[in-house]
Formats: sequence, structure tokens, C-alpha cells
Amino acid sequence: MLDTLLHGQEEQSSQLEQDGVEVVRGDLRDPDARARALDGVDEVVNLAAIVGDPACAREPEVSEEVNVNAARALATEAQQAGVRRFVFASTCSNYGRMADPTVPITEDGELAPVSLYARQKVSVEQALLGGEFDGLPVTCLRFATVYGVAPRMRFDLTVNEFTRDLWADRELEVFGEQFWRPYVHVRDAGRGIRTVLEADDGKVVGEVFNVGRSGENYRKLDLVEIIQEKVDRGKVSFVRRDEDPRDYKVSFDKVRERLGYETLMTVPDGIAEVAGALDEGKFEDPWDARYRNIP
Ligand SMILES: NC(=O)c1ccc[n+]([C@@H]2O[C@H](COP(=O)([O-])OP(=O)(O)OC[C@H]3O[C@@H](n4cnc5c(N)ncnc54)[C@H](O)[C@@H]3O)[C@@H](O)[C@H]2O)c1
Repeated sequence: MLDTLLHGQEEQSSQLEQDGVEVVRGDLRDPDARARALDGVDEVVNLAAIVGDPACAREPEVSEEVNVNAARALATEAQQAGVRRFVFASTCSNYGRMADPTVPITEDGELAPVSLYARQKVSVEQALLGGEFDGLPVTCLRFATVYGVAPRMRFDLTVNEFTRDLWADRELEVFGEQFWRPYVHVRDAGRGIRTVLEADDGKVVGEVFNVGRSGENYRKLDLVEIIQEKVDRGKVSFVRRDEDPRDYKVSFDKVRERLGYETLMTVPDGIAEVAGALDEGKFEDPWDARYRNIP
């Protein structure tokens, strides 16, 4: 694993090493670090990135270097190394603002990214699938928005953030409450990658898959309702804001039909899991900066 531990994930990487994972603490932008990470490897999964619209908008040059230039350099070197598989972590954010968000969009649907982050992901996808890295056995996975309890907990992801705030009896400000978005549990996201790595080449090489479940598209309004039912606390105020106009409902039929992939968790399961972990006091201070990607 190559990771610069941007968010101070020392504890998690030490645990991975104890579990037998070879961790290269380095920057994806550094050719030497990439060479060390690629040495002897036959499957590459590019997860490393500056993740999310706010983080990319904050440091546009760095995000371009990491999310586009370094991702492309990695693909070139993986191609030269003759790897068996190259999986690129992309995002359903690529669908942006759909003309008709009530009809779930498939992998062939129009991409309408509304942020720098999504434009960067779209540009790498297009390079990977457009034949620029001839012979590289590529699969692009467009993940739904992730939620759930993870070794490096994230409280800046919608489901987790809303659950934390209402659980703590705070007032939650919600904008764009009518907008649709798909969600996937972090372990199901991981299982999606494994499914692709284990599938026959013919089913996955040169393909894009949305990773999630068709029944798991929600409006923020729905999330709030489910959480309040669960924790019975907190106040919600709906506000108007122009930023983040993403509105997309996604179909996950292809990954299910072609690869037999089914998610195991639903958003209500994830909400119960996060609320349970908060009840147990698993996080000393759930508002601590280590649980989010931007300060
Ligand atoms: N979280 C989501 O909802 C979501 C949804 C769709 C797609 N994705 C994609 O999945 C992947 C993983 O996202 P995540 O949510 O786990 O985010 P994350 O921020 O937790 O993970 C990204 C990792 O990349 C590392 N990293 C950042 N810059 C680096 C660099 N220059 N060199 C080496 N490592 C670097 C970070 O330290 C971090 O461990 C990303 O590619 C993201 O775009 C995430």
C-alpha cells in the first residue's frame, strides 16, 4: 500500500503492517515512491486522492497533481510493468446534476460534473478508457457516497455527519434536502473492489461499474427522517445554499447483473451502526479534526 498518510493515519497503517501489509509511506506524486509500491505487484487499485469537492477546491493545484497527473503517471508505469489489473476509484459525483434525477442513471449516461473533484475523476476515466494506456487492463468503479464505521472514521461524509449531529442533540443545517444521492457502506465499497479483482477479465476489463445498490438512493430529507426515527434527538433546519447542486439517482443494475455483486448493508443499517458506535463512546471527540478531510 502506498499512502502519504495525509490525515495522520499512523495508527491504522501500523495496524495494517501488523496484519502483514507492506506499507510504503510516500507520495503518489513521487516517482520513486510509485516505483517502490509497484515493485512485484500485479494488481493496482488507485484509491489515493484528494477526496471531495471542498478539499479539491481548497487546493486546486495539489488536487490536479495528485488526482490527475500522478494517477496518469501511475497508469503509465503500471502498463509498463504489465500488471494484471488496474482498478481506478472514481465516483458517482461524475453524474453531477442530472436533467431528470428521478430516472436512475446507468454507466452509459451523460456525465455532468459540477465540481473540480468530479471533473478530475472524469478526465482520468476518459484517459484510461480512451485507449491512452494501450493494453492496461483497466476497470473504473464509480462509488456511491460512502458511509459507515471504519478504522479511520470519517465524520465529514453525509450519513455519518448527520447521524453524529442528531445523536448529539445538535441543530443540523441541511441544504439541498430534495436532491438525490446514492450511498454505499465502506465495507461494501471494499467488497466491490474485491469482486472486480476476482472476476474474469472478459467481464471487467475496459468497463465502468457504478458501485452501490439501486434501492439505496436517498434525498437528504430521507436521511434525516431515518436518523431521527433512530436516535429521537436533534433539530433540523432546512436552509438555501447555492453550492453543491449535485442531484443524481443512480442505477447499480450492471454490477449486480454482470458480477453478481450485492451490497450487504443499507443506509438504515449504517445509521444504526454509527449511532451504536457513538453510544459506546468509540470516539473520544467525534468532532476532532482527524475524522475529517479538511480542517
Ligand atoms: N468517500 C466517498 O464517498 C467516495 C465516493 C466515491 C469515490 N471515492 C474515491 O475513493 C477513494 C478513497 O476515498 P476515501 O473516501 O477513502 O478518502 P480518504 O481521503 O479517506 O482516502 C484517500 C487516501 O489517499 C491518501 N493520499 C492523499 N494524497 C496522497 C498522495 N499525494 N500520495 C499518496 N497518498 C495520498 C490519503 O492519505 C488517504 O489515505 C478516492 O479515490 C475517492 O475519490 C470516495
